[in-house]
Amino acid sequence: MKFAINRDRLVSEIQALGQISEAEPPVVTRVVFTDADLRARAWVIGKCKEAGLNVRIDAVGNTFACWTGSDASAPAVGTGSHIDAIPNAGKYDGVVGVLGGLEAIRAMKAAGFQPKRSIELLIFTSEEPTRFGVGCLGSRMLSGALTAEAAAKLGDPNGDLLDEVRRKAGFEGSLNNVKLAAGHYHAFVELHIEQGPILERERISLGIVERIAAPASANIFLEGSGGHAGGVLMPDRKDALCAASELILAVERAARSTGAVDTVATVGICDVFPGAVNSIPSKVRFSLDVRDTDLARRDGVMNEIALAGKGIAAKRSVSVRTEILNVDAPAECAPEVIRALAESCGTHELGCLPMVSRAYHDSLFVSRIAPTGMLFIPCFQGYSHRPDEYAAPEDIEKGALVLAETLAKLAS
Ligand code: GLV
Ligand code: MN
Ligand code: MN
Repeated sequence: MKFAINRDRLVSEIQALGQISEAEPPVVTRVVFTDADLRARAWVIGKCKEAGLNVRIDAVGNTFACWTGSDASAPAVGTGSHIDAIPNAGKYDGVVGVLGGLEAIRAMKAAGFQPKRSIELLIFTSEEPTRFGVGCLGSRMLSGALTAEAAAKLGDPNGDLLDEVRRKAGFEGSLNNVKLAAGHYHAFVELHIEQGPILERERISLGIVERIAAPASANIFLEGSGGHAGGVLMPDRKDALCAASELILAVERAARSTGAVDTVATVGICDVFPGAVNSIPSKVRFSLDVRDTDLARRDGVMNEIALAGKGIAAKRSVSVRTEILNVDAPAECAPEVIRALAESCGTHELGCLPMVSRAYHDSLFVSRIAPTGMLFIPCFQGYSHRPDEYAAPEDIEKGALVLAETLAKLAS
């Protein structure tokens, strides 16, 4: 069966969704359960309904748009990604997988294909950690990696609890019902931009992910002693920001010291209290994000950072406390899904590259409950999590086409 992707429609929908933002477009900021996130969800759900899909939404807002197969009781084939976006982001991260998945379904329908298994398009809630601290919130809960109890207690920076915020946003029902029944999916495939430079550099339009790196994140709190910037003499200081600065450089050193390109560590947030020009910082909180394809090496880096914290705390007479937010294992993609993706590339005479995903994705958690694979397309200069993120229409089209081919194969 021959599938045709409507490239213009798909690209114009990606552009249109990019206009729904808390920030002035082309900057996309769509933090979970904000007005922009809710408007974006409603817009995508409208498109799913127009395409004849049945929409179900769970208690945390994970959205399932289902094309019922001829054997509705057989485990379904899933696809999809996320539409939430970190502050100052672009239009493509996650969105290509959601709207590309929808376009793939429309292409299959237009070609007269009838799936045996149902095909479900998912919009996962809060793949990004911006508001509640942990990434892949929706898929973590679907997979059972995050319990309803633990999720309900997650708080946002205002101290509002997930359980209250999701209800206010209109998502009712028990969080206990979010976890999917074992065997719900026969297979799952996520289309995503690479968020790195390799495909563009190699001039190859498609990457088949074999492994997803293991992410860990933490908040690190330092407390020293504040006071007057003029009055407190240097030997008497317990400056929390100076201590944090040393520790942040130790984070960088720890990641570099493995000598592996796959080890990365980032401090992306640093809050200073009280935050006045003429006041010695007494408290600092900074975020820590460490990833590696090798779990032991990632944990080694975390330990090294903890050790550095102890040393700096003793030397500078400040306290250092670490709150671990998540320490996740890496994921292996399923051989049968990798094979289906590779065959689909072959059918269309499209070259593909085996890849590692250094970014995390909802697939990291879906892989715990279903055979899972990911398809990457290039993005300009590897840029992502920034407003000039860009994927070329021809690559988006190829990605959606191979996705359609693969979903059809898996759903037959
Ligand atoms: C996902 O956005 C990630 O940070 O890898
Ligand atoms: Mn992202
Ligand atoms: Mn993403």
